[in-house]
Amino acid sequence: MKKRKILVTSALPYANGSIHLGHLVEYIQTDIWVRFQRMRGHDIYYVCADDTHGTPIMLRAEKEGITPEALIARVHKEHLADFTGFNIHFDNYYTTHSEETRYFSENIYQKLKAAWLISVRSIEQLYDPSKNIFLPDRYVKGECPKCGAKDQYSDSCEVCGAAYAPTELKDPYSSVSGAKPIKKSSEHYFFNLSDNRCIDFLRKWTREADHLQPEAANKMREWLGEAGENKLSDWDISRDAPYFGFEIPGAPGKYFYVWLDAPIGYMGSFKNYCEKNNIDFDEFWRKDSATELYHFIGKDILYFHALFWPAMLEHSNYRTPTKIFAHGFLTVNGEKMSKSRGTFITAESYLQQQLNPEWLRYYFAAKLNGTLEDIDLNLEDFIARVNSDLVGKFVNIASRCAGFINKRFQGKLVDGEQYQLMRTVIDERFSSWRPGKIEQAFEDRDFSAAIRQVMKFADAANEMIHELAPWEIAKDPQRSCELQRHCSLGIQLFYLLSCYLKPILPKTVEQIETFLNCEPLMWPVLPDGKPVSDLLLPAGHCINPYQHLMTRIDTKQIEALVVANQQGLPPAADAFSRVRHGQKQQHAVASIADTVSIDDFSKIDLRIARIVNAEQVTGADKLLKLTLDIGAEQRTVFAGIKSAYEPEQLKGRFTVMVANLAPRKMKFGVSEGMVLAAGGGGKELFILSPDDGAQPGMRVT
Ligand code: MSP
Ligand code: ZN
Repeated sequence: MKKRKILVTSALPYANGSIHLGHLVEYIQTDIWVRFQRMRGHDIYYVCADDTHGTPIMLRAEKEGITPEALIARVHKEHLADFTGFNIHFDNYYTTHSEETRYFSENIYQKLKAAWLISVRSIEQLYDPSKNIFLPDRYVKGECPKCGAKDQYSDSCEVCGAAYAPTELKDPYSSVSGAKPIKKSSEHYFFNLSDNRCIDFLRKWTREADHLQPEAANKMREWLGEAGENKLSDWDISRDAPYFGFEIPGAPGKYFYVWLDAPIGYMGSFKNYCEKNNIDFDEFWRKDSATELYHFIGKDILYFHALFWPAMLEHSNYRTPTKIFAHGFLTVNGEKMSKSRGTFITAESYLQQQLNPEWLRYYFAAKLNGTLEDIDLNLEDFIARVNSDLVGKFVNIASRCAGFINKRFQGKLVDGEQYQLMRTVIDERFSSWRPGKIEQAFEDRDFSAAIRQVMKFADAANEMIHELAPWEIAKDPQRSCELQRHCSLGIQLFYLLSCYLKPILPKTVEQIETFLNCEPLMWPVLPDGKPVSDLLLPAGHCINPYQHLMTRIDTKQIEALVVANQQGLPPAADAFSRVRHGQKQQHAVASIADTVSIDDFSKIDLRIARIVNAEQVTGADKLLKLTLDIGAEQRTVFAGIKSAYEPEQLKGRFTVMVANLAPRKMKFGVSEGMVLAAGGGGKELFILSPDDGAQPGMRVT
């Protein structure tokens, strides 16, 4: 395989706010992808920085009575600590307030100017006469021209939803000083995006070579308009003093607008890294570079990255990005993150509550699919998913098999004939399994698909171990050889799973490397036609004693997290009921039914069932079709839970079913039983899950 040279960035977070779980969607996504490429042996660098310039940062520092430099230094430390806490590893985490970024900002500006792509003209803007600053729109407030609501922003009304121009606002005032803004003109510098050279270039660039995801490319086409149309306006790249930023060369009192130097901060951060590590910066940034450059960003800043940035680079003779990877926004329990609901969760609070960062990494990965769709953190589902997949299916394999290997075989896995026998058993079971699918899904940033594949493998591994039942064999001292073989098989499959999960769970897998007593795990590549067992640890490999790898999430921890992030609304007891149900709701509690005897109760045969498959039923608005494994057989059950569950959420889960209910013929087929769920219907439906260890077919008594 050819060794690739790759430079990756995530968007630079503003230096005036804390990192929250929404940000982490991006940095976790990028970090997973980078780790995956690194495991495959490619040369990959991941750089980022704080975005430090602009009016908000200047005003915030002033309010705190410190210099902007002191503010950005403090925030830099906080941000880096948050990222490190989530096991996000940057090769360089720098700042845009740096000599490197200043150099490239000036350099790019001068080249654009030399190409006649910079123009200067006077514009009129709102000005705060008491603070003596021009007011960005967000600092102008006033009365809504439509409904008269007070204290509304200059672009739209939060009360009636009307959108309007800043000039339409009634009784405007500066939210910085309270003064009435006046209109004032000054000279501004523009990057001539409406120049035909820019338009023609962007038309081509946004269509070519999959630079953009299809959804993003469509948006760009809308913004660019049809051939012959000219919908792009020139871009205002200057701000007047006082401004925290870089002064424009040859234009005293004029500063680069923060969004001009922000993406240049990618170059600044990388340049800083190259100097320290003896890497050839130009190899990555010159026009004909053979290296790859990827920017991970949120969909809200697509315009800057897919239009302004490539146009700037192209016309200042640098390479343009290979691809822009945009992602959607995070919602919590199906709604925008909210401070009053306690769902505006900061990275710091998550870590302070001692929650395992790898839980969140896994959950986000399970939701990310490489598109611009928003992703939802449903707190209940988060708990269920992590507990069932990571603890129940993954870690469980090691904890069940390692004890015997350590206690009975001094940590040694089988060798010789027994090893060959084990390989045969694995190859038979996994003959049709191709790990290439996992690799492709990671490459495409479709981590949810990758996880589905990995968990399928984990299910199969668990099934095998369940059938081989080493805990039974252990009771018979005569069968020690078999015991070692079966437990070795479990450990070997666990090893493979760990390889595939390593980009997502770097810290856990680091512990696993110690436990398995091996070199840092690399990406296992299986050439066509080779058996899966070629990927395993060598015969006779010795492992270390098993140390506990991961705990289950306790609902109480999530309750505490929500309470810790709740602002403005005190009643804590109520907080989680809102989190659980997505809204404030009181539950009517139905009265208890008539007393029955134990004999009556035992007529009902309740069984643990594994949901092997769940699918939509065409034409049914309430039903999902479930295939349930209850040990001895599989059942088809139509369950009225469509309003509350996606089929994907259910696959692989364990639940409880009524196994001796008379079959019922329905429009869509015969239902052979019933699954149990609590709640009144709609989104309020909660199916049951047994505790870990319960196996399909066990009777519930
Ligand atoms: N400073 C600019 C980026 C400059 S890049 C040259 C910025 N900063 S930000 O702090 O607001 O956001 C940083 C990144 O986090 C952006 O890509 C943004 O889309 C992403 N997210 C911020 N909130 C988010 C969610 N709620 N959900 C998902 N991503 C979010 O924009
Ligand atoms: Zn209004």
